[in-house]
Amino acid sequence: MAKLIIAIDGPSGAGKSTLSKALSTQLGYANIDTGAMYRAVALLATRNQISLDDALALSQLCRNMQLEFQRNGDNEKVLVNGEDISAAIRMPEVSMLTSQVAACPAVREELLRMQQQLGRVGGVVLEGRDIGTVVFPQAEIKFFLSASAEERGRRRYEELRAKGMNVDLAQTIEEVRARDAADSSREHAPLCRAEDAIDIDSTVLNIDQVLAFMLGVVNERLAEK
Ligand code: DC
Repeated sequence: MAKLIIAIDGPSGAGKSTLSKALSTQLGYANIDTGAMYRAVALLATRNQISLDDALALSQLCRNMQLEFQRNGDNEKVLVNGEDISAAIRMPEVSMLTSQVAACPAVREELLRMQQQLGRVGGVVLEGRDIGTVVFPQAEIKFFLSASAEERGRRRYEELRAKGMNVDLAQTIEEVRARDAADSSREHAPLCRAEDAIDIDSTVLNIDQVLAFMLGVVNERLAEK
């Protein structure tokens, strides 16, 4: 059976993480959360008091970082230098810093190399912002998953609340908008849809509906191979 490269791009909160996890599990593929890689760099930079303007120090940090994705059934972990950072990288303050880190060309260059290395043999779902346009423009399947900013903010709010965090709905929606603006307007690899991407608007679709649609596309593509 052919081992495809599947790209899932789109703005934050559209359901990319949940869907790439579910899709990769169904297919027995690896799942690469590229946002987690940018988040890991932001977390380590703050911990090591590296200025986000210091491109040289940031690219060195990327090169020295031992990043690992671990999956145990439904549970996925991100480890850096052996430490489980899955929860730490989801904190709202890390999210804001990550937008800045992701705008740094030296960081993008290093992570691009790592992502291409991780995905090159296929049998992989990669989720991010520039997978179908920059990381794997030759990916066999590209999905562009979106949803309205209000809906994405609401989902993020519920997610954070479920984790016991004290957050405000209006502020969470505002943060989603601010990150969208930063991710779409930056000079290097801004969020944009690949011309040959398949659009999915998840505003009124639930996870199972989107997953069923994605699996349909994958099976069609596999049958053509
Ligand atoms: O998907 P996420 O929310 O975990 O992404 C975190 C940040 O990283 C977000 O600001 C967008 C950025 N990012 C990126 O620029 N390119 C990627 N391939 C993935 C994420």
